[in-house]
Amino acid sequence: MDVLILPRVQLYRRAAELFAEAANRAVRARGRFTVALSGGKTPVPLYRLLAEEFADAIPWDRTEVFFGDERCVPPSHPDSNFGMVYESLLRVVNVPPPNVHRMRGEIDPETAAREYALEIRQVFALEPDQVPQFDLILLGMGEDGHTASLFPGSQIAAAASGIAAAPYVPKLGAHRLTLTPPVIARARMLMLLVTGREKADALKRVLEDQYDPARCPAQLARTAEGKVVFLVDEDAAAHLSPAQPGYTT
Ligand code: 6PG
Repeated sequence: MDVLILPRVQLYRRAAELFAEAANRAVRARGRFTVALSGGKTPVPLYRLLAEEFADAIPWDRTEVFFGDERCVPPSHPDSNFGMVYESLLRVVNVPPPNVHRMRGEIDPETAAREYALEIRQVFALEPDQVPQFDLILLGMGEDGHTASLFPGSQIAAAASGIAAAPYVPKLGAHRLTLTPPVIARARMLMLLVTGREKADALKRVLEDQYDPARCPAQLARTAEGKVVFLVDEDAAAHLSPAQPGYTT
């Protein structure tokens, strides 16, 4: 696991470079790039960079775009992760429309989760008990240590099976749609983007406290199978122990 501590502008540029490297590596090896994108505010500058300066560096026509999680709202809703990713990235780059796999936040959550798991099974041509292996899963982290829509204390955050779920999140008073821990853990690469002083306490818990992903779901990254890169700005890194192995400034 690598923790890159960078000024924010450099952080997004490095994230875009790693994204492009992962995409081209996947297409060379397997003819396509499967990526699950994260929601929230943090990744927006990255999506804009990918849509503009890096647009020609990525084989968008060979890319399958999925989502790590979604709010249970229609795509036109201001809270929709799909809506945010469409406006900042998909509206601009030429991912073939059938390759954009949206979680349908506008329908019954359990139905939407079942439907999404089936869509993933079909695209990955999975056997019944197989877990999909994404080339890249992009994640953020909340101030409570959640990632995707795996929230502390949620039974889904501790789940050891399934592909997509629709947990009820008491603190939000709403359901969410999310990829499950086994899918996140199996990705060839995880990239977690964390910025802002408000994330400093959670990031220290995630990286340095005792491993307990049910209580701190972003800790899942610490035991993931593939390459794990945390890209954090100096504000978010403010409470990290100095000179830890794997930390690069
Ligand atoms: C979401 C995200 C979620 C996000 C964190 C951080 O749907 O909100 O997938 O996991 O990454 O909540 O959100 P910010 O980037 O807005 O701080």
